[in-house]
Amino acid sequence: MRKDLIKKIEKKYSELFKTKPLIFRSPGRINLIGEHIDYNNGFVLPAAIEMAIYIAVGKREDLDIHLYSEDYQEGFQMLIDLISPQKGWPTYVLGVVDQLKKAGIQIGGFNMVIIGDVPIGAGLSSSAALECASVFALNTLFDLRIDPIVMVKMAQKAEHEYAGVQCGIMDQFASMMGKEGYVIKLDCDSLEYKYFPLKLNNFQVVLMDTQVKHSLASSEYNIRRLECGEGLSKIKNYFPAVQTFRDVTIEMIETVLLYGSKVYKRCKYVIEEIARVEDACELLSNNKMWAFGADLYLTHEGLSTLYEVSCPELDFIVKECKKEDSILGARMMGGGFGGCVIAIIESNKIEKITQTIGQAYFEVFGIEMKVYITKIKNGTSGIIENKQN
Ligand code: GLA
Repeated sequence: MRKDLIKKIEKKYSELFKTKPLIFRSPGRINLIGEHIDYNNGFVLPAAIEMAIYIAVGKREDLDIHLYSEDYQEGFQMLIDLISPQKGWPTYVLGVVDQLKKAGIQIGGFNMVIIGDVPIGAGLSSSAALECASVFALNTLFDLRIDPIVMVKMAQKAEHEYAGVQCGIMDQFASMMGKEGYVIKLDCDSLEYKYFPLKLNNFQVVLMDTQVKHSLASSEYNIRRLECGEGLSKIKNYFPAVQTFRDVTIEMIETVLLYGSKVYKRCKYVIEEIARVEDACELLSNNKMWAFGADLYLTHEGLSTLYEVSCPELDFIVKECKKEDSILGARMMGGGFGGCVIAIIESNKIEKITQTIGQAYFEVFGIEMKVYITKIKNGTSGIIENKQN
């Protein structure tokens, strides 16, 4: 918990709005395995992390929304009745308000100050964190009593309709539902979930941030969704018993799809990854950590060559990881085209290894790689129970 950030937004809020706010926190996420699988009805294995978005909120007397981002040092105002998608950070908050409106839920005007330490564009889902923080805060502020899973879905829809990214449900689910010390095994078809204690013994989850985000990220993301949809509908036409990718086999795609075509490659990755997540969960629960790590490398290979969402920077870091004996496994994480590599590294070697890789990365790309050692924390929550003045 970043008490310094909480203090900062409380102070800013009082300065701007002359009252005391309620404070909420919603975290970023990691995902151990199951990438680009949430919108393909597989299982994913995410967890909420320590880095989070913090917001201070309070009611207004009128029907205005007043937002202020401490990170961007920028304010934004709009009447609730007139909200529409915007460029930049306000759209995530407005997107949630829009979902409440669409659900027929009436809210009043509100003020909000936002701050965070989830690096933006690093694939750690700062946008999902802001959406979840906003819907959770408004739910509390206006006593709406919305079920948490419904809030997760609203946050996801806000991303679709106001940010224009047809994301799956993983990021919002992990941000809202995360639990300290546990990863979530989430069935993205039924939304059933189970918490799994993450026991890595003398290893730790480390993120290596390429510090790049290629502009293709959101357009290619939406294209992948379409390509998978196209493949699945062709398979369904031929094999009517198939409902989701979980029912699809390699033989089926070989029968129906043009070998080596884009759609063939996307579908091949999806069915291999769905099987790999099952295998990885089994290995994790039997403490077979090296075999689990090997699965991470295979996922990267699939994301890079079949799903084609990696980039030279991510591929380079994963290749460097493979040279290290103290790394169980590594792969790109999240949507791709930049962001972070997730690696599982022996605790007492983290510093030396990340330094070596960082140096090699700098020599090739001229970019300083950032390193975050993750701690798994709770999902969205209110921080201070005090009532408004
Ligand atoms: C982004 C999306 C998620 C998920 C990942 C890839 O983070 O928001 O829904 O699809 O990419 O696994």
